[in-house]
Amino acid sequence: MFCKICNALQSGTDEPDVGPAADPALGRAGAACGGVLRRPPNRVCQDEVMTVLVRRLAEDDWAILREVRLRALIEAPGSFYQTYDGAVVLTEEDWRSRLRSTDKVTLLAEADGQPAGMVVGAPAGPDERDPDAALMLSMWVDPSFRGQRVADELTTELIAWSREQQYKRLLLWVYDAAPRAAAFYRRAGFEPTGRVETFYDPTRPLTLMSQTL
Ligand SMILES: CC(C)(COP(=O)(O)OP(=O)(O)OC[C@H]1O[C@@H](n2cnc3c(N)ncnc32)[C@H](O)[C@@H]1OP(=O)(O)O)[C@@H](O)C(=O)NCCC(=O)NCCS
Repeated sequence: MFCKICNALQSGTDEPDVGPAADPALGRAGAACGGVLRRPPNRVCQDEVMTVLVRRLAEDDWAILREVRLRALIEAPGSFYQTYDGAVVLTEEDWRSRLRSTDKVTLLAEADGQPAGMVVGAPAGPDERDPDAALMLSMWVDPSFRGQRVADELTTELIAWSREQQYKRLLLWVYDAAPRAAAFYRRAGFEPTGRVETFYDPTRPLTLMSQTL
């Protein structure tokens, strides 16, 4: 569990990150708040804790998947292949069939019971040329929960799923124009494979990153 103000473990042993939301006036402690809330330096965390739970969605969760995915496509339209216009017309059956797929998983992060982010795992395909790998897709964290380890929790659970499925590697494509996402993935243990592709838009290269499981 993490303090929702300073992002530190409740035990206080987690050294907070210094991100772009850092406010020099607040010093290193204030820098840890990720732009959500700030606390003055030296204030001790006591009961300001946020519980992040990650769960695997089932078919009957289709409406929450639709809601969170549409929010992601509105908030970060340049991060995904799919567009809001393409997703908003999908039917209930379309969403249900995504969740019915037995070779894929959709994970939802809930922070204090509120949807805070999502990620999808699927078998790697022809673009990845690695039959022993799973592919991470659709990673998104609500801006108000960024910098608070929600993406770490989603990644940890996706790695667990990938191992259960006997995959040897977890892959992902990240736009070169998304430095925050790339920095997160490096911190989470992914490394660039050296492959860079422009599948749909020649002006927007993607780098393939990999983590050995
Ligand atoms: C990608 C995403 C899930 C990461 O979650 P997050 O909570 O923002 O990640 P974190 O804050 O834990 O980590 C981000 C890292 O980038 C760093 N960072 C922040 N802004 C940065 C920038 N402009 N340039 C470089 N690094 C940056 C942070 O310092 C942090 O690195 P550190 O932990 O080594 O200090 C989230 O930002 C998101 O949903 N983005 C929009 C959708 C998206 O891009 N999805 C990925 C598709 S491949």
